[in-house]
Amino acid sequence: MARPGHTASLLVVVVKTTALLLAAGTATAQGCANATFPAGRWFERCNALPVLGASLHWTYHAANGTAELAFRAPSPSGGWVAWGINTAGGVGMAGSSVFVASHDGGGAVSVLSTVLESTSPSLTNGTLGFGVPVPATAEYAAGAYTIYVTVALPDNSTTQNTVWQAGPSSSGGSILPHPMTGTSLQSVKKQDFLSG
Ligand SMILES: *[C@@H]1O[C@H](CO)[C@@H](O)[C@H](O)[C@H]1NC(C)=O
Ligand SMILES: *[C@@H]1O[C@H](CO)[C@@H](O)[C@H](O)[C@H]1NC(C)=O
Ligand SMILES: *[C@@H]1O[C@H](CO)[C@@H](O)[C@H](O)[C@H]1NC(C)=O
Ligand SMILES: *[C@@H]1O[C@H](CO)[C@@H](O)[C@H](O)[C@H]1NC(C)=O
Repeated sequence: MARPGHTASLLVVVVKTTALLLAAGTATAQGCANATFPAGRWFERCNALPVLGASLHWTYHAANGTAELAFRAPSPSGGWVAWGINTAGGVGMAGSSVFVASHDGGGAVSVLSTVLESTSPSLTNGTLGFGVPVPATAEYAAGAYTIYVTVALPDNSTTQNTVWQAGPSSSGGSILPHPMTGTSLQSVKKQDFLSG
């Protein structure tokens, strides 16, 4: 009597596990797993972020507490995108250290590294609230910016309050405010760099 019961519960476990794997696989395929990067760039994990069509791709190194990452978000070429971590213990824009990719006045893609002092930040290119062992670079291709950077996760913690955003630039390349409505106000996430 014990044997058939045991077999049946094993089957249930197998079926449940398969269903979970299928669900996870589908979610991943629809979100970010098919993203391609230039030769030499590869990331272990990815998450499709909840809004703005953005995705985060990363490889976490526990030994030194760093994450090599790529942030990708769609934008017109005359716009900017940004990703960062709130190091002020808060959630959202103010107090976040961010990387902003945009086209400068000369048409080249550049990255600004800046601490957002408030919701009306000065956008001074400077030192962030966490270590950046490999400085940020960015590219614009197929209607999206991708920012590449390696960060030392603050407090060596694998969960971080992250923010991201997209907005317009002036014709001279200056970063203009992002929309203050809808999904532009929902771009915050407690990001888990271990599990994603
Ligand atoms: C991702 O790639 C797989 C395998 O090539 C394919 O079946 C799937 O449709 C792709 N998903 C998306 C969102 O492009
Ligand atoms: C970060 O934490 C991991 C354990 O999670 C530890 O092995 C590593 O030494 C720590 N790294 C730093 C830079 O503190
Ligand atoms: C910010 O400073 C870094 C390092 O000096 C530089 O590489 C980058 O181009 C600067 N970004 C902007 C937008 O000026
Ligand atoms: C962190 O460790 C990984 C693998 O252990 C290594 O590839 C990477 O270069 C290290 N990063 C830094 C900034 O030391």
